[in-house]
Amino acid sequence: MAFIALGVTGGIGAYKAVEIARGLQKNGHEVVAVMTRSATQFVGPLTFEAITRREVITDQWKAGANADIEHISIASTIDLLLVAPATANTVGKFANGLADDFLSSLFIATKAPVLIAPAMNTNMFEHPAVVKNLETLMARGVQVVDPGSGYLACGWIGKGRLAEPEAVVAAAELVLRSHGGTTLSGRRVMVTAGPTYEDIDPVRFVGNRSSGRMGYALAAEALRRGATVTLVSGPTHLTAPHGVTVVAVRSAADMHAAVMSRAAEQDAVIMAAAVADYTPANPAAQKVKKGEGEMTMTLQRTKDILGDLGRLPSRAQRLPVLIGFAAETQDVVAYAKGKLETKAVDLVVANDVSRAGAGFDVDTNAVTIVSVGGVEEVPLQSKSAVAARVLDRLEQLLIAVPSRDAAARA
Ligand code: CTP
Repeated sequence: MAFIALGVTGGIGAYKAVEIARGLQKNGHEVVAVMTRSATQFVGPLTFEAITRREVITDQWKAGANADIEHISIASTIDLLLVAPATANTVGKFANGLADDFLSSLFIATKAPVLIAPAMNTNMFEHPAVVKNLETLMARGVQVVDPGSGYLACGWIGKGRLAEPEAVVAAAELVLRSHGGTTLSGRRVMVTAGPTYEDIDPVRFVGNRSSGRMGYALAAEALRRGATVTLVSGPTHLTAPHGVTVVAVRSAADMHAAVMSRAAEQDAVIMAAAVADYTPANPAAQKVKKGEGEMTMTLQRTKDILGDLGRLPSRAQRLPVLIGFAAETQDVVAYAKGKLETKAVDLVVANDVSRAGAGFDVDTNAVTIVSVGGVEEVPLQSKSAVAARVLDRLEQLLIAVPSRDAAARA
């Protein structure tokens, strides 16, 4: 989830900005509309207010605007400034550092990435002044969605009309992703990864085929989005991204201790590890010598880490938000739904490990994300892309949950 300021300026394409706002919201983002005076000639602020469910910023000088904290803080809290449509006038003001209304002041004040979707008549678009202004902006890192060619409102055919809303929304997503993020900044996320090794004796263990890749991808994505990340990892061959705090563990009991002792600091815990459900009841201190005939080993249940997290008193406030994984070979969704309840978790990411290309020891995965609200299929793709989908869902869940850091400061 990102917080996006949608600047709307006075072009006929302003009506398309309504669709853009909706598209961004559908992707889980929060949108605040900032309209220039001439934009209000094309679309009423009420339309944006109804859609974004926020007051629309139309005037820098409106009484109260400068006392309203959100108005003032917007430059530092937004993750993206998107201007669609951007008229020749606005492009010119941005390029020359003029700040005579809220939008142009916001452009100068914010450190967030800026994406503009110019829209104007073809001759205006091709005018050397506009070309130069766009070049100046691009050289300063402003990203531009190319205007589409087609029928312009003035009856001409040519380049200049506002790009289609879906194209603008897709470009916004790209910019948000490439700028990595701030969408989880101030949040602490703990991820578990890999298998656990349950020792039989000093040289043997019971383990499983988990490579840890899904958990490491989740940790990397959470870090990229600005979270403070702790990765509790069973034995793997992977290297964690720089910036992640790694806690190396071996057994399910080690992992239980590592996770539970840090749970009170976390905003979210994602249990991607394939934790052993059973461990040898009496591991031998010395190497077990072979004998004649069969050997029987007694296994005992390990502690259920996710189950214990679900029983923490802070879960009454949804803290930490809990995401579990379920590796199944059949009835994936039904089992995942069961786990939602029995383990009191917010989301279960269910894996059909019998499917080619999904599950253990491959770079790709296909999962089903199950919550009380429904079932989302995430088709086969890289584990990083799957991690991004899971974290999008986490961000949505976190909207309703105060951050531990903020609570500690209060
Ligand atoms: N898990 C855990 N502690 C354990 C075992 C599992 O926290 N001792 C977590 C895993 O990290 C995963 C989820 O619980 O997030 C998996 O749940 P589990 O009930 O163990 O399911 P499976 O082992 O996948 O399936 P089954 O119920 O068939 O054992």
